[in-house]
Amino acid sequence: MTTPKLALTDDAAATLTVEALIIGTVQGAQGPEPAPGADEVAAAFDGDLSKALAALGATGKADEVVKLPAGSSLNAGILVATGLGKPGSDGEFTAESVRRASGAAARALPGVTHAATTLSLVDLSATVQGTVMGAYSFTRYKSESGDDPVGKVDLLVSGGVKDETNKATLKGATAIGEAVNTARDLINTPPNDLFPASFAERASELGRSAGLEVEISDADDLRKHGYGGILGVGGGSSRPPRLVRMRHKGAKGAKKVALVGKGITFDTGGISLKPAANMDEMTSDMSGAAAVVATMVLAAKLNYPLEITATVPMAENMPSGTAYRPGDVLTMYGGKTVEVLNTDAEGRLVLADAIARACEDGPDYLVETSTLTGAQVVSLGKRTPGVMGSDEFRDRVAELSQATGEAGWAMPLPEELRGDLDSRLADMANVAGHRWGGMLAAGHFLREFVSEGVSWAHIDVAGPAFNASSPWGYTPKGGTGVPVRTMAAVLADIAENN
Ligand code: BES
Ligand code: MN
Ligand code: ZN
Repeated sequence: MTTPKLALTDDAAATLTVEALIIGTVQGAQGPEPAPGADEVAAAFDGDLSKALAALGATGKADEVVKLPAGSSLNAGILVATGLGKPGSDGEFTAESVRRASGAAARALPGVTHAATTLSLVDLSATVQGTVMGAYSFTRYKSESGDDPVGKVDLLVSGGVKDETNKATLKGATAIGEAVNTARDLINTPPNDLFPASFAERASELGRSAGLEVEISDADDLRKHGYGGILGVGGGSSRPPRLVRMRHKGAKGAKKVALVGKGITFDTGGISLKPAANMDEMTSDMSGAAAVVATMVLAAKLNYPLEITATVPMAENMPSGTAYRPGDVLTMYGGKTVEVLNTDAEGRLVLADAIARACEDGPDYLVETSTLTGAQVVSLGKRTPGVMGSDEFRDRVAELSQATGEAGWAMPLPEELRGDLDSRLADMANVAGHRWGGMLAAGHFLREFVSEGVSWAHIDVAGPAFNASSPWGYTPKGGTGVPVRTMAAVLADIAENN
């Protein structure tokens, strides 16, 4: 990951000497129109910009990027017109439309060393985030890396380059974009290189250099303390599990927040083996853990005035002679017993241990995330995380997630589903005997490990964490970094409003 150099500028757009000048386009009734912030650029075209865009087939819709010669009235080489779509009923463009347009533009500029954008005049924060996320590329495993992502982007602002608000916005939005990209790097690292021990090591390096306290428990430590869920799931792999704990002490007497993320470095399903089709995508089954690690690094960087502790279980779910079996009964951290009826429902088992441990610290809030269930993808699709948890806090998390553009949606935990997790042998089974409401059944399972009085939310990102199809907006192929921005927003909101 390399972040483009970002700098505020209040020079006139026409005077900017850049290879590419980015403007927004709007889907108007009569065709494409220059977006707010692009007036000066449009003026340089003597009112003919809309005509030029239309002639090139542009419409102004989201994810459309059209390049045209900038002409002699501008100092730029090319104009990059990126679609914002239609404005909302209030005539305004949402932050997400600006983020997305900025991301699409950044993705269209590999090889360009210096660009400038006018979208920052509409929404600086969204432009910065979109640009940082859109310029992401992961080439570690390519012999020939091809063109570098855009190297430098000047951001036009009206309030002045020395304006404290502008400077703080640039810093905060850059940090958030970089946190997303940190998560993506971890997710995109293949499972032969990213396994529990190496993941824990990497998390520790990232955490320590950001100023976090980090503690890694190996399999012996886990045995000593009775982490039956993590040990059960990790038992089939020659590469033993880990539990990483990270702490940010932002302020004394501050609210305590616990973060938990699922870190299955590869999920074969175990003895309940998955079908071969698309199994490679299970390299992303540690996306929750990646998001939590990245969010912790961000929390340290932005020094949120909160006490935040992350508990991150890491294991590889493999079938082998030492693997756990369907039929096994595991004793989880804290003493609850679980009958394993399907070894592919492993995420909830490692999370249960981590949740129980996290709750020992007496947090006010617990935010967890995972690629928990295929049922999330069935119910909400590839781009909409499911948010479950305590009613009030769940709704708050979903609402904040909407505002970030990550689009989390509140889901219920219907009471009648709980009984389906009853076990013949143990306190609970790890799956219901049917496939109805699969995400919600998993939510019920997790709820059993959350202590009374803790405001809790789980974000299931099974679909949204990994983009196996084409890039769009600021989202590349591969790891997406969802839900880093939601967690960052939740932390910022707790810091501000308790
Ligand atoms: N890691 C999977 C969930 C998943 C599915 C993530 C698709 C990303 C894309 C999880 O461990 C799993 O296998 N869940 C099972 C649970 C079932 C056995 C109750 C599932 O959803 O099929
Ligand atoms: Mn699984
Ligand atoms: Zn899994």
